[in-house]
Amino acid sequence: MINPPVYDLRNPFPWYAHMRKHQPIWQEQASTWHVFRHDDVLRVLSDYEHFSSQRGEANDPNRPISSSLISMDPPRHRQLRTLVSQAFTPRAIANLTARIEEISNSLLDDFQGQTHLDIVESLTYPLPVIVIAELLGVPSDERDRFKMWSDAVIAGSRQLASGEVLSFEDAQMEMVQYFSQLVAERKKTPKADLISDLLRVKVDGESLSMAEILGFCVLLLVAGNETTTNLLSNALYTLHEIPSLWPYLAEQPDERLAAFVEEVLRFRAPIQHMYRTTTCDVELSGVPVPAGSRMVAWIGSANRDEAVYEQPETFQVNRKSRHLAFGHGIHFCLGAPLARLEAELALKQLLRRYTSIAIPDVDASEPVPTSLVYGFHKMEVQLTP
Ligand code: HEM
Repeated sequence: MINPPVYDLRNPFPWYAHMRKHQPIWQEQASTWHVFRHDDVLRVLSDYEHFSSQRGEANDPNRPISSSLISMDPPRHRQLRTLVSQAFTPRAIANLTARIEEISNSLLDDFQGQTHLDIVESLTYPLPVIVIAELLGVPSDERDRFKMWSDAVIAGSRQLASGEVLSFEDAQMEMVQYFSQLVAERKKTPKADLISDLLRVKVDGESLSMAEILGFCVLLLVAGNETTTNLLSNALYTLHEIPSLWPYLAEQPDERLAAFVEEVLRFRAPIQHMYRTTTCDVELSGVPVPAGSRMVAWIGSANRDEAVYEQPETFQVNRKSRHLAFGHGIHFCLGAPLARLEAELALKQLLRRYTSIAIPDVDASEPVPTSLVYGFHKMEVQLTP
């Protein structure tokens, strides 16, 4: 057995390459299995009959994520997805274009004249939070609380300024309390926002339960924030790493940005893995995996599989291949059009105002401290007007 390269949060890719080659289906503990090759990851993500997304008790208002789409299997998943898709349509998202432009313009105005700044704090974090907050109809000045909650849910816990630790469970409880109040208000007085729409939609005479509405709000807050933040941060990191890309994109942003964003999603996927549980004994590429096993499907590795991509470890701005950054199959990311739109609009405005970006001290940037998410909590950049 060859010793694998040490797993490195900033650069997990050599470890993935090793695992794809030597242990593509790796049993880490008695009941935890990791999957690294593209075709296996695709199967684990999309074969819901053998690989279940369910975790915990559904319909428990105190465990909103267990009651959300992402933790559900058919047939309920299908019904719930049809319901929320009525409120969260691609057209509703496209209608947000002007507002997203306004928000990102005003964030850019706020740091105009400043050439050294933490771009996560100034742009890539606040943009998605403000957009989600507006979609849900919650005041955007609550965004520090949102950040604290989504950090705690993503990382499992979060240390507060007071030194206290906010646990995953407490963060969920606080979100539930917050949204319960908001949902009750909208029930009495509907407004033009997503929560009011969610209260209204019906399929076959059936509407969403309170636990499901709360679950969806919490899911959007968590799924829509950290992910989009890191898509944008990873795009900017790539522009630092390959300086020729800035003038190339600035020349024809409308034609070139979409493909660039897709390649960032492949190359540095914001979500590096997803979980499933086997529903029965399964064979995966000839390997028997027992029922009840926890599966870790490594999207970040699948996106660099040499069996699917030519020169997978090279960033190719014109690569027209698909990737698994938004998942695959029935759970394919509902927010993908929104994430793409936010990233493209913000990048376009940066390209218009500046001529280059650099990260003077890469070691001072802080990676998100979990293998689930690839991105940055802090990234000091230098922008040249
Ligand atoms: C599902 C990634 C942005 C809402 C997913 C899944 C992935 C993903 C990998 C599939 C999960 C699975 O198979 O278990 C991302 C990435 C994003 C992003 C990389 C940004 C770059 C967003 C945004 C929203 C959102 C902005 C909403 C505002 C959702 C929802 C699901 C989901 C609701 C669950 C869909 C279902 O289970 O049917 N996302 N996401 N995501 N995402 Fe995203």
